[in-house]
Amino acid sequence: MTDDGDGDLEARLVEQETFEPSDEFVEQANVSDESIYEEFEEDWPRCWTRAADLLDWDSPYSEVLDDSEEPFYEWFADGTLNASYNCVDRHVESGDKNRAAIKWEGEHGETRTYTYQDLYREVNEFAAALRELGVEEDDVVTLYMPMVPELPIAMLACARIGAPHSVVFAGFSADALATRMNSADSRYLITCDGYYRRGDPLDHLAKANEGLAGVDHGVDATVVVDRLGEDGFGHDLSGNQHDWDDLVADHQGARVDPVERDAEDMLFLMYTSGTTGEPKGVKHTTGGYLAYATWTSHAVLDLEPEDTYWCSADIGWITGHSYIVYGPLSLGTTTVMYEGTPDYPERDRLWELVEKYAVDVFYTAPTAIRAFMKWGSEFPERHDLSSLRLLGTVGEPINPRAWKWYYKHIGNEECPIVDTWWQTETGGMMVTTLPGVGTMKPGSAGPPLPGIDARVVDTEGEEVGAGRAGYLTVDKPWPGMLRTLYNNDERFIGEYWEEYSDPDADEWVYFPEDGAKIDDDGYITILGRVDDVINVSGHRLGTMEIESAIVGVEGVAEAAVVGGDHEVKGEAVYAYVILEDGYDGSEEMREAIIEGVEDAIGPIARPEQVIFTPELPKTRSGKIMRRLLEEIANGEELGDTTTLRNPEIVEDIQAKVSD
Ligand code: PRX
Repeated sequence: MTDDGDGDLEARLVEQETFEPSDEFVEQANVSDESIYEEFEEDWPRCWTRAADLLDWDSPYSEVLDDSEEPFYEWFADGTLNASYNCVDRHVESGDKNRAAIKWEGEHGETRTYTYQDLYREVNEFAAALRELGVEEDDVVTLYMPMVPELPIAMLACARIGAPHSVVFAGFSADALATRMNSADSRYLITCDGYYRRGDPLDHLAKANEGLAGVDHGVDATVVVDRLGEDGFGHDLSGNQHDWDDLVADHQGARVDPVERDAEDMLFLMYTSGTTGEPKGVKHTTGGYLAYATWTSHAVLDLEPEDTYWCSADIGWITGHSYIVYGPLSLGTTTVMYEGTPDYPERDRLWELVEKYAVDVFYTAPTAIRAFMKWGSEFPERHDLSSLRLLGTVGEPINPRAWKWYYKHIGNEECPIVDTWWQTETGGMMVTTLPGVGTMKPGSAGPPLPGIDARVVDTEGEEVGAGRAGYLTVDKPWPGMLRTLYNNDERFIGEYWEEYSDPDADEWVYFPEDGAKIDDDGYITILGRVDDVINVSGHRLGTMEIESAIVGVEGVAEAAVVGGDHEVKGEAVYAYVILEDGYDGSEEMREAIIEGVEDAIGPIARPEQVIFTPELPKTRSGKIMRRLLEEIANGEELGDTTTLRNPEIVEDIQAKVSD
């Protein structure tokens, strides 16, 4: 049975525009007094010591913010600390060694639990192994791994020895891996023989090896986790490739002192998509990032050490970094990791896990919620979800109908929902209600968090009135912000600061490239990206990256990619393609294009539709009119076409786009 959701929501809920947290929730919330907004404002930037105080520092910092070289801000700069110590050792030392740190569930139902003591042992042993392989402080280690416990263990082992990690999402292609290793000059790779998807083993190592062949510099060592055992593909490990278990066996019982890192030392790099074809290496630091991930986990996710918390994202994205690994573990919480997909073996898999682990706080993406709605409420109804206290969403706008479905069918109208707006670059949540404080308005993320100075402005940077569409900006720095783009300070300034800053007046304004509107209560509704980035199932993809993959296919002359609305994915990739003479828009050509995109980026970027056309709609100055292509993809009425050089092509293209 499928259900569009409305049948499941009575009129009362459909009409209700605001929701309040229950008294019971507020009473137990980590933050429940609205004076926090004022306190942060009055005491800015010193207010951020509240975040830093959640960490253990090796040596204290004397200054909260150094803004002497804007926009290269430094936070807690002369303090020193270690992220792995904060996420592991301190919980062991404080008597919580037997609390579960990670509860992992494989797709087939295998389980593994790591207590903080187990995690301590594994992280130390792997850190010792990394050292033996030659990894030194500040060497970038690339992790190309699916959702296996060895991934957070490897991240924390890197952090322990001060080697920044660069996690590449396992669903990305070999080419994407090579590009990222080349860009980061990374000489070490941790990967996996394979993993399971919908029952079948996937050959991940073949992809990793292909990627390694594309790395321009020498690779010193690769470590391979044996996930598949007898289901494996029989790869021989050669030369400088090592089996994870063998390596760790050689370092049993090893202890590695956590390296004292400067707060501003890099903790990790995370590549993300931007306007150009080249992915951006977002640099996050040890002190500010960890303080911010920890603080927002405490204040927004309301996490307590006693909680069992589950974020269903993949660690290959920033959400998994901040809110599966660093935030929850820093607070000493139990974090759940699941290897598989939500509909395997059945569409109630996630709810089965919520029941099995008695999850207290659950964080997911609107795209997943829209799929759950489509599948129908019978699946969550099979399970006891009464352990849940708080729900969250992230990654894309959530429509009120999906919000209310989540509220009723997963939260039983008892759990507040936090709709959290943030980005890879912001490190942590920026705009959302505080669940123990604010009124919730479905469809609107909420006010900026305390200490975050977000506004909605017009093209001149003037604040727009309530209800009018504008651009989101952030006027003051915050500890979790990216520090730069790896090896590219110039692009960092160009991408995020140039649009709204006035360097002569010493005014620096961060531009996240999202459209937004604000209401009379200061609640911000995010309207989506205003650059050439599309958001497919909460995954950020650059249209230029996809276009360059398509023009790389033999026979393609030109391509334009836009995002069209999609019921479940939010947006889907629409590719308009001009072929060279002598090629026709055959099924083989279509498949070659899809394959080209999957090879260059990964299956997540797969075009929903490939539309062959002899021309693209262009302005007289030769610019492709993307707005029009979006309207065509969405079957919308077309806006002004009078400025087109070739208006006749529009109807032709329209006729080719199938519903
Ligand atoms: O457009 C916004 C959207 O996701 C973009 C950031 O993508 P990424 O860096 O991959 O990080 C995703 C997870 C933090 C933003 O520029 N976005 C994220 N959260 C929301 C959102 N759009 C609307 N509402 C949200 N809650």
